[in-house]
Amino acid sequence: MKKEIVVSGIRSTGFLHLGNYFGAIYNYTRMQEDYNCYFFVADYHSLTTHPDPKDLKASVFRVAAENIASGLDPEKVALYAQSDVPEITELYLMMNMLAYKGELEKVPTFKDKVRQNPNNVNAGLLTYPVLMAADILIHKAVKVPVGKDQEQHLEMARNFANRFNTRYGIDLFPEPHVYRFSENTVKIMSLDGNGKMSKSENQNATIYLNDEDDVIRKKIMKAKTDSGPTHPNEEMPEYIKNLFDLMGLISSEDTVAAFRNDYNQCSIRYGDFKKQLAEDMIQFIAPIREKARALQQDEDQLRKILKIGAEKARESAAKTLSEARKAIGINYY
Ligand code: TRP
Repeated sequence: MKKEIVVSGIRSTGFLHLGNYFGAIYNYTRMQEDYNCYFFVADYHSLTTHPDPKDLKASVFRVAAENIASGLDPEKVALYAQSDVPEITELYLMMNMLAYKGELEKVPTFKDKVRQNPNNVNAGLLTYPVLMAADILIHKAVKVPVGKDQEQHLEMARNFANRFNTRYGIDLFPEPHVYRFSENTVKIMSLDGNGKMSKSENQNATIYLNDEDDVIRKKIMKAKTDSGPTHPNEEMPEYIKNLFDLMGLISSEDTVAAFRNDYNQCSIRYGDFKKQLAEDMIQFIAPIREKARALQQDEDQLRKILKIGAEKARESAAKTLSEARKAIGINYY
């Protein structure tokens, strides 16, 4: 049986953290076994905010390295930089002719950006969902592992796909759908109990894949707790439950069960609990961090990986693009 096609884009801004790991990367590493996966660093998308040219390469390489260190296998998936696949931008141009200003202006993520940055409402920002649709449709992907915040973009990608098919009377693009491994995807809450871990906010309450051991220790020891439960089997406050959830992801079952038992009997000492969580977290993060750093220092190796990824991606992209050109009537020679 032919494997189903999966596409996902990884933002190149900000350091990856535990939320990215358990929310996205871990899912990628599971999908790579069963699907034909195209994963890319969305460097063109990052240009909407005009990053310093000096920083771009390091960001792209870092994100690629962190994903590989977390288990993404470039032999199993096509891992590439978006800008290395010019077919995407050509399809983006075509799709722009089918995207209406009105629908683009209504997208919540666009409206948020306008509110946050009223002086930089550029056309690239407006057509961000069109580029994203091109990323996906260029490989005729049917499954797209993304978070809830991207659902609207996926719906637009489906609209553009159908619009193209209808206009040109061709069944070229299948509908891409959001894909989740399980319905209860883990949300990694920040250590201070305020919202989710984040690439940019709450840095002291977010654990990054690049954090040093002592930084991890410090952050976890500062996590919000209280004076402890006062009667047996008391319901946990949100911030304590979050810490237990984290422990559930990275510690052994016995460890979690023991502390849970202590909690239920009101004998838990949060200092010990956090110490254990910190040490287990270090065991979990340190190998990823070290592998990512080693890779980043081996630029030749990373370049080779991205090049091979781009070759795989371009092969698939070129096929779709030539069909799209033909459908449109760009068929001169
Ligand atoms: N917009 C996505 C995000 O912010 C990144 C992205 C770009 C993407 N192109 C994509 C995700 C294509 C899935 C498919 O996270």
